[in-house]
Amino acid sequence: MAKSNPRWVCNECGASSSGWFGKCPSCGAWNSIEQQDETPVDRVVLSTAGTAPVPADRTDMVVHRLASGVGEVDRVLGGGLVRGSVALFSGAPGIGKSTLLLQVGAGLARGGKAVLYASGEESTAQVAGRAQRLGAAHPRLLLMAETRMEAVLDAARELALAGELEAVVIDSVQTVYSAAAEGLPGNVAQIRTCAAQLVSFAKLHEVPVVLVGHVTKDGQLAGPRVLEHLVDVVLSFDGDDERALRLLRASKNRFGSTTELGVFEMTAEGLREIDNPSEAFLAQRPQRVAGSCITATLEGSRPLLLEVQALLAPAHGGARRNCVGVDPPRLAMLLAVLERHAELPVLDQDVFVNVAGGMRLHEPAADLAIALAVASSHLRRPLASDLVVLGEVGLTGEIRHVQRVEPRLAEARRLGFRTVLTTPPRERRALPLELVAVANIRDAIDAVLA
Ligand SMILES: Nc1ncnc2c1ncn2[C@@H]1O[C@H](COP(=O)(O)OP(=O)(O)O)[C@@H](O)[C@H]1O
Ligand SMILES: [Mg+2]
Repeated sequence: MAKSNPRWVCNECGASSSGWFGKCPSCGAWNSIEQQDETPVDRVVLSTAGTAPVPADRTDMVVHRLASGVGEVDRVLGGGLVRGSVALFSGAPGIGKSTLLLQVGAGLARGGKAVLYASGEESTAQVAGRAQRLGAAHPRLLLMAETRMEAVLDAARELALAGELEAVVIDSVQTVYSAAAEGLPGNVAQIRTCAAQLVSFAKLHEVPVVLVGHVTKDGQLAGPRVLEHLVDVVLSFDGDDERALRLLRASKNRFGSTTELGVFEMTAEGLREIDNPSEAFLAQRPQRVAGSCITATLEGSRPLLLEVQALLAPAHGGARRNCVGVDPPRLAMLLAVLERHAELPVLDQDVFVNVAGGMRLHEPAADLAIALAVASSHLRRPLASDLVVLGEVGLTGEIRHVQRVEPRLAEARRLGFRTVLTTPPRERRALPLELVAVANIRDAIDAVLA
């Protein structure tokens, strides 16, 4: 491999600079700049054979998807792994990445061809032991304890050339190293080079590659941001430690939507798919207490009932706002609307808001539920336990319509809710729940908290 002059590269964003800086001039990260020898590999290997231009109306170039049989994973991917694509599967240590990928690997191996699972973290005996415990010990799930990228690629190439390779899993990108790059495994040049070699392999052999990537405590991928640009799909796996719930999302997907959510539970037999996540999220809901309100949100195509909790307490000094799962500026706006248009003196209170189950409410449709959880805590009056609340709140205190109400109400009804508080329907139609129609925040509070 041709070597050029050493250069300085940021481990966080991958930007190169003219020399060492304490703070990266590009992304502002501290102590992230390291000296590296330039490896031009990722510029050359990305081009493979067959680059002649093709007309856009050619119809024989379909995207081939491989369903893993783990339904939640396939849905988040948009129907399965795409042949020739590279997916990055990121998550904190211990969250269950290796567990889920063994289950996915076994599912893919049932398709008839081999799946190569290369672990740089554990011995083959450890991985095989886990696969057996999970019921994922398929004879075509081939395990390899290897950190040398070239050795993994040789094994994969041999299978691919024999027409026997379905997919490759690399666990993890931080532990493999390539002879084509300098430095220790996990540094920016190594990660870039290994990823580029895998992208090239995937495209050349039309095999999907899944890369495991660790994230640091603050949720950032350990390693360069450039990795996220090199791959086709970025999946993140996180969860709620106490309740063993695990959530799978795509933050980038060149072949599908990034709005779908996969929900699992970690058990001794591995990750179990949760078909009814609303039930799981509402399982520990307190009954008849002030400061709790249920809303129905949409995660991609799937309705999800979530509990918003609020607690207000007199502030000593400056009023504090503490939100988990809700945007702080949105909460600030809702508090101002409650104070002005419902005459609830909440602005001088400490306000804590939490979405149960470690979920995030990112839709304005959850505004009214957040506002009512706050109002309920402030007034120390509970909301009815069979009430679900939907609505966006505007700056003048008006309640606005919510999109796609039907799937939300159907899910609420399935879980035993009886009443919905929302705007008057735009057209007359039968709703599955009894409707309490309100036009503004004051009416909403009068209707359910008076
Ligand atoms: N024998 C076991 N029985 C039940 N759960 C286990 C067992 N061994 C490991 N686990 C669970 O699996 C988790 C580790 O999952 P793993 O897939 O290795 O995570 P990652 O690859 O993301 O670091 C542990 O945190 C633990 O909860
Ligand atoms: Mg692991």
